[in-house]
This record gives sequence, structure tokens and C-alpha cells, in this order.
Amino acid sequence: MSSVFGGMTVRRFLAEHWQKRPLLVRGAFPRFRDPITPDELAGLSCEEDVESRIVREEGGAHPWEVAHGPHPEERFGALPDRGWTILVQELNRHVPAAARMLEPFAFVPNVRVDDVMVSFAAPGGSVGPHVDSYDVFLIQGQGRRRWMYGREKVQNARFISGLDLRILESFTPDEDAVLEAGDMLYLPPGVAHHGVAVTPCLTYSIGFRAPRLAEMWKDLAEHLGARPEGAALLVDPPLSPAEEPGAIPVAMLARVRAAVRSMDLSDDSIDRWFASFATRLKPGHALTPPRRAPALEVILARLRAGDVVARSEEGRFAFLPRARGGLYLYAGGEEIEVHRGAAASLAKLVTGLRRPDPTELARLARDRHARALVLRLFASGALRFVRRAR
Ligand code: SIN
Ligand code: CO
Repeated sequence: MSSVFGGMTVRRFLAEHWQKRPLLVRGAFPRFRDPITPDELAGLSCEEDVESRIVREEGGAHPWEVAHGPHPEERFGALPDRGWTILVQELNRHVPAAARMLEPFAFVPNVRVDDVMVSFAAPGGSVGPHVDSYDVFLIQGQGRRRWMYGREKVQNARFISGLDLRILESFTPDEDAVLEAGDMLYLPPGVAHHGVAVTPCLTYSIGFRAPRLAEMWKDLAEHLGARPEGAALLVDPPLSPAEEPGAIPVAMLARVRAAVRSMDLSDDSIDRWFASFATRLKPGHALTPPRRAPALEVILARLRAGDVVARSEEGRFAFLPRARGGLYLYAGGEEIEVHRGAAASLAKLVTGLRRPDPTELARLARDRHARALVLRLFASGALRFVRRAR
């Protein structure tokens, strides 16, 4: 893992750079192999369930025109030699080898993972100078890209109005570097950057998203509102004839405050809501159960044979210890209560690795609670057998 940061340890990277300062690492992936070719990327961007964009700085209906996929094939024929980019979101869902690009970053909790995005740019192609609200590792694939970027977060960013993209009105980079295959640039949220293709090139964005507080508060309120005790009506305090009917009686306000404060905001209830919120499936994502649920005996035999197991890329996975022992496993927002012992070890293994070791799964599944959990995870589509990745 330390190879990702050259000579720097992960601990030092987290202390000095994560969410603070950019870091350029030359040769972070010395023998980097692209998990996709530009042609495959173009093919993906024509598919229905793939989120993609083509950005053209000039020559479109207006500057910085964004065309959303799925793209008709003719759209590619109409592109000039220079100045455009195709971007495909969530490559990890569509290409197993791209999902594996997340593995060296497993030092960041899984609930922070967003996706692997890929772009292919013609020379001169870019998406303009901008800021993101994500932590991102930009890994250079084939070709070369020039990155201009700031050293600090931008204060009061202003964007050019009337465009499809949020492009900074002004941008003066502190750093300027051309990245080649296997080089990597880490950028914290809010640092301005502008990447321009020097040659036709592929760039991978390993993105980590933190929720906005407003998003969390709204979701928590909805979660609390769904509790059965929320069906009760606010009961009036003893009333005397209202002299000023427009006034809200003081005693009524006291009841309102008491009702609001009676919401269960214990540590346990907040933690469990957050684990479920942070692992919830995004719109359009689904844990797809296999067409025929595999029999337990078949699963166990394949695990013992060492068949490769992959976790679904549709959702995030996490666990929380339970006060009474054992733990809660969260898979795509669903909470599963897990027994202590082998079942708990299995839950930790599965939430920790995109490719949990089949032999270890088989060993843990000798325990009956762990075995039931294995069956449940395969039946829901959270785990599946895959062909060996290249
Ligand atoms: C790109 O790959 O073209 C854009 C990535 C980024 O700037 O976030
Ligand atoms: Co960006």
C-alpha cells in the first residue's frame, strides 16, 4: 500500500495531506495497466445504464457544451481532433478491473468511497478550471495530461454563469505538472484544478465523498419521522380561554420543546442511522439477487475450491459493534444483526475487502451463524462469484 505514495507512509499522507493539501506522486503505480481502452470507454458511454458526458470546450452549440449519454454512435463521428472529453461515472460498477483500483485506497473507510470515474480526452481536451466537493486521487492512465492546480482551498469560488459546467471565473495555478501513466495527484475538496490533455489520454478519478450536514439532518429527520411513536398527536396543555388567539400559549411551547427533545438521539440510535444512511444505495443502484439463488452446499463447495468472490459494487458496506456483543452489518443500507464469533469475523472480512478470501470465508462458514450469513449475502447479491480478473 505504501507504494501508492512513493516513499511516504499512509499514516503521514493522512496526517499531512488528506483533506488538507494536494500531493503529486510520480510513479505511484509503476506498472500501471489501464482497465479499459478508449474504444471500450466510448462503447460503455452508449449504454443505457451508464452515466456519461461528452464535454466540448468549443465547436458545440455553446462554449463548454455538455452532452449527456447514452450517446448515439454518430456523436463520436462529429467530434473534432482536439478539445473534447468523454467522462464515464462509476466505472467500478461496470468493469471489475476498475473496481480493483479502489483496493490500494482501502485505508479510507468504505463509507467514504464514491466511485471510480474515467475520462478520455483528445489533445487540448479538459473540463475547465473547477473545484470539486470530493477528495480525489487522479491516476493517469495512457497518454499525458497537464495538471494545473492550487496549493490551498479556494475561498469564495465564483463561477462563469450560463454554462452547463461550473467553471471558475478566474484561476491562477500554483503548480503545473505533466502526468504520465502511473503518476497520481491527490486533491482535497475545494482545491482548484485544471487538467488538459497533452496527448490523447485516459485519467481515472478515485473519488471519496463526504455527506453535507444538511443532507444528514434532512435524512435523520425523515428517519425519526418514520418511527411508530411519531404517529402520536401533540396533546394540548390545560387551556384557559385565549385572550389573544394569535398567541401560542407558553405551556404549548413547553410541550413542543419536550416533544422535540424526546426524539431518541442516543449515541446508539444516531450511529445506527448513520451506518444505514452512509451505506444506502444511490438512486438507480440495486443489489441484484442472482436469477437462481445458489444452494448453500454449492456455495460452500465453490468457496473451498477457491473460486473468486467479489462484493457488489452497487453499495457501500460497513459494520458497527453492538453493545451486547456481535455486530450490525450494513450492506446497501440494510441492517443485519450478526452473532458474535465466526459470523462477526465474516462480517468484518466482507465489509473490509472487495474480494474477500474464499478459503477464509469457507473456514468461517463452518460455524452455523456464519454459514447463514454467507447464504444471505449470496442470495441478496451482496456477494457473487466472478471470473478471475486480469
Ligand atoms: C477529467 O478527468 O477530465 C476531470 C477530472 C477532474 O478534474 O475532476
Ligand atoms: Co475535478
